[in-house]
Parts: sequence; C-alpha cells; structure tokens
Amino acid sequence: MANQLWIRKPLARLQEESSDEGNQLKRSLGASSLVALGIGAIIGAGLFSLTGIAAAEHAGPAVTISFVLAAVGCAFAGLCYAEFASMIPIAGSAYTYSYTTMGEFVAWIIGWDLVLEYALGAATVAVSWSRYLLEFLNGFGIHLPVELVCSPFEKVKLSDGTIIEGGVINLPAILIVWLLSLLLIRGTQGSALMNNILVVVKVAVVLVFIALGWSHIDPANYTPYIPANTGEYEHFGWTGIATGAAVVFFAFIGFDAVSTAAQEAKNPQRDMPIGILGSLAVCTILYVLFAHVMTGLVNYKLFANDAKPAATAFAQTGYDFLQNGLIVAILAGYTSVMLVMLLGQSRVFYTMSKDGLLPKFFSEVHHKFSTPWKTNIFFMLFVSVFAGFVPVSDLGHMVSIGTLFAFCLVCAGVWMLRRKMPDAPRSFKAPLVPFVPLAGIVVCLYLMYSLPIESWYRLAIWLGIGLAIYFGYGKKNSLMGKEYNQNQ
Ligand code: ALA
Repeated sequence: MANQLWIRKPLARLQEESSDEGNQLKRSLGASSLVALGIGAIIGAGLFSLTGIAAAEHAGPAVTISFVLAAVGCAFAGLCYAEFASMIPIAGSAYTYSYTTMGEFVAWIIGWDLVLEYALGAATVAVSWSRYLLEFLNGFGIHLPVELVCSPFEKVKLSDGTIIEGGVINLPAILIVWLLSLLLIRGTQGSALMNNILVVVKVAVVLVFIALGWSHIDPANYTPYIPANTGEYEHFGWTGIATGAAVVFFAFIGFDAVSTAAQEAKNPQRDMPIGILGSLAVCTILYVLFAHVMTGLVNYKLFANDAKPAATAFAQTGYDFLQNGLIVAILAGYTSVMLVMLLGQSRVFYTMSKDGLLPKFFSEVHHKFSTPWKTNIFFMLFVSVFAGFVPVSDLGHMVSIGTLFAFCLVCAGVWMLRRKMPDAPRSFKAPLVPFVPLAGIVVCLYLMYSLPIESWYRLAIWLGIGLAIYFGYGKKNSLMGKEYNQNQ
C-alpha cells in the first residue's frame, strides 16, 4: 500500500490522454517564438517592483550582483527543466514530469507547491500593477480613497511624496485579477500574436529606460556599491546580496512556462533548451543593466516602500512626457505575466483533478468555452484574497520560496532519473550531471535560506495542508492509485 506513493504515470498513457482531448496542438513555434514566449512570462513585477525593494532593504546598488546570483540558480534549474521537457515533449509542467518520472507523492507535492508559484505569483504582480495604476492616476490628479487601494499592512509611497498607509483592501489589484480570470474563462485562442506585441512593448520599455537613464546616472549613488552589513543577516553586505537574490529571483519566474509549450514546438529537442535558456540569458542582461541604471538614477534608500520604483527613477531623467507612456507599457506588460500564471495554475489543478488527486470540480469544462471555468473562478477568488490584503514583498517572498523548492525537486528528479533510467531517450541532456543538478539544488537552497524565516513557516504550513489533503483525499481517489490497488 505504501508503494502507491511511488507509482508513476506511464509516458504512453500521458500521450494518449493528451490526444484524447483533441489536444493535438500545431507544431508551429520555432526557437525565437519560444524565447519570446519565455520573455512574455518573465519580465514583470520582479523587475519593475521588487528591484527597488531588494535594493532599499537588502543589497543597495549591488542588487545587480543579486540578479546575477539568482540567474545562476535559474540557469542550473533551467538546464534540468530542459532535459525534462525534451524527455516528455508534451504540454505539461513540473507536476506532469514528476508524475511520470518520480511518482505520485512527489508529483502531488510539486503540484501543490506550484500554487505558490502561479496563484500567489499572479497576486504579487496584481499588487504591483495596482501601484503603477495609482501612480498613473496620481499624475492626472486623480486620488482614489486610501481605504480602497491599500491593504491593511502596506505602506505605499507615490512619486510626489504622498504616503499611503494601512488601508482596508487593494481593490484595483482584485479587479485586474477578476478581469483576467474572466478573459481566461472565455478562452485564449489567438493569444500568440498578443503575446508577441506585449513582449516587444516590454523589451522596448526596458531598453528605453536603460538608454535614456544612462546619461542621467549620478555616480555618487553607487557609493558605497555594497553597503556595509547592519548586523542583521539580510540587511546589506554579502548576505544582503544573497537575500536580494532570493527576492529578485521572482523576476526570473516564468521561464519554466516555456516547457509547457513543448507540444507546440517545431523541434522540441533542439528548441526547448534554446527557448528556456535563451529567454533566461536575454532577461539576465536586461535586468542587470536596468538595475544598474535604476540605482544610479536614485539613491537606493529612497526606494524603501516604493512598489513602482521604475517610475520614481525615470522621473529623474526629466523626460516627463514619457512617464505616462512608460507606466501604461508596464501595466500592459504585466497582463501577459498574470495571464500565463493564472492559466498555468488552472491547468495544473485541471490535470491534478483529471488524475483524481483533486475533486472533479476542478476539471469541469465549460460547455461553450471549453475552459476549466470552475477552477478559474476558484482561483479568481483565491488570488483576490491575497492580492487584496497582503503586501507585495510578503507575497513575493512566498512565491520565491515555493518556486525555489519546486526547482530543487526538479533538479533532484533529473539526477535521480539519470541513475534509475539511464537509457530512456532524452534528446537534450543537461551537461555535467550530477554537478548541474547538485549545483542547482545548492544555489536554490541557499537562496531559500536567505529568505526571511517567516517565509519558511508559511511554506511549512502550506505543505502541511497539502499533505493533509493528499492523505485525506488524493491518495484514496487517485485513478492510478485505484488501478494499482486493484492489481495488488
Ligand atoms: N517573473 C515574473 C515577474 O517578474 C513573475 O512578474
């Protein structure tokens, strides 16, 4: 009976299921489209919001080094994701990969943990979205009531110096989550073109910011480049840089979304690794340059409590007429990130429900729109609670720790499989195994260790709830489990 925990879903069955659902997606994505897909999912609140928080509270101008450190962790994990994606080139996620390779229990843990990445990730971006919206409206002299735009434990600083503190609910963040969830319920066909436009807009914003900001950098803002540690682990110095890396790690989340498009890739074996690692490489370069300019324009201390630091920094350039355009582009760019996250979340729960690990409710498909609408509505409400009442940095930490944990499991899985199934076909092999997965685990664990202790408690509570649901419901209702137990 205990062995049910390790039953694996056969690959052939996975392929059968995906064709059953008429899921024969067209193989139309080349390497560059995959890189674009990744960038669409990657650039968002991590860059435009958390960079300021990481600089002000943890790393100072050396937040650039934090970005490099986070990128290293992601690159190791990215190589492992690429190996998984090339072994199982059908639409999926870390949950699907692990069910086929590491068994039901690990798959459950990863699937449950992905809620932190996708659902809370969407909430984090929504809060940052609402901050930029506020800044935008403020520019036109429109001031919304504090109670309705700020969660209870949040302090927000606008560019004109106005401080908003301790409201009741962050209504704009909730509204954007509702809007996008309803959009998802109607279906997202034809979204590739939209995604490409948003990617161009986002990359353009980053490039314009870097190009126009560069000549306004005040070198005095770089002194000291690595502010001395204050005596507390996460506040400045090298340990502050590590904490900063764990915070801005959020900015890289989404590259794994490329792996979910494996079924639509023309040549998944060659192009998946290019898509995953290429989008990571492009984003790392953009991030380091962006962070360098941002902390050069404004002293890092001024980014404290500033959830829209890009706008604050850009105000220093004097290109006031571009400020609103910048904000609008950022707001638009966020939507693609939130869509990918909300979509990813509903698809993971849909699949888990199809496998019997969650109630059928989560896989009921709308008769007209053919989307898992009940899951979408469930997560619309779930994400709203967090978006409406939790400050952006607490949310960001939760997302980071949850995703880092999932990355550790993916790295461990790739290593384990090399030992257990050395001959299974893999068209892309992560190099230098076991060094790469081990290094991935070490860097991700180090980043997790650098996060505030409260994040660990929250992760433990979340996993505890997950275990209770698995042993209380999932294990008994698992389709694979039922077959397994019948055959015993
Ligand atoms: N990487 C995504 C962002 O920064 C989640 O918004």
